[in-house]
Amino acid sequence: MPTTTSWIDGRSYDSPFTHPVGWVGRMAGRFMLWTNRHQKEILPLVAAGPGQRVLEIGYGAGGLARLLCATGARVCGVDPSPDMRLLAARRAPAADLRLGTASDTGFPDRAFDRVVSVNTVAIWPELAPAVRELHRVTRPGGRALIAWHGGSAPSRVARGLRMSAAGLERVRAALGDVFHRVDREELSGLTVFVAHR
Ligand SMILES: C[S@@+](CC[C@H](N)C(=O)[O-])C[C@H]1O[C@@H](n2cnc3c(N)ncnc32)[C@H](O)[C@@H]1O
Repeated sequence: MPTTTSWIDGRSYDSPFTHPVGWVGRMAGRFMLWTNRHQKEILPLVAAGPGQRVLEIGYGAGGLARLLCATGARVCGVDPSPDMRLLAARRAPAADLRLGTASDTGFPDRAFDRVVSVNTVAIWPELAPAVRELHRVTRPGGRALIAWHGGSAPSRVARGLRMSAAGLERVRAALGDVFHRVDREELSGLTVFVAHR
């Protein structure tokens, strides 16, 4: 199984939740749909309308991609896991789901009105290059959203996964280096940074 050295603490992670592979990865993907069920709360912040172009980074089993497609948005996604791609394509058949990472999406400059990533930022190997990539593919006037477990009423599982205040500050600062405004929102199960380009 591949490992990730997280930008947060330099530790290596090789769990089926960070690198879902094979049948264990697919089971983890289904579990993510349950543990990450709070992600529907982010839809009003994404505020994607019919025809708008939305990129999801780290789509996992495709729960959010499916919800985004239901808004009428044109949804694309990148995730490094071929197993997640198969699962997500079943759940969101209208989405254009590709293999890729936060640091290398493979999409052209300014291709999206919205870019969103839920519960993946802490497992990116690098923060600044990924945030620059999010900025690159967001159109001027568009927004990029990075969400992580937290918020005002996280589940027991999510409480154990919350990021330190220093980690959250690093995410905010990295976004602030390239986007012109960054807002922080606390939903019930997610802490969300909304970055305006
Ligand atoms: C914990 S799951 C979250 C999935 C989904 N966003 C959700 O909330 O259910 C993490 C996902 O991030 C993907 N991932 C791992 N490294 C990544 C990277 N560098 N860039 C983008 N996605 C990554 C994994 O393959 C996995 O599907």
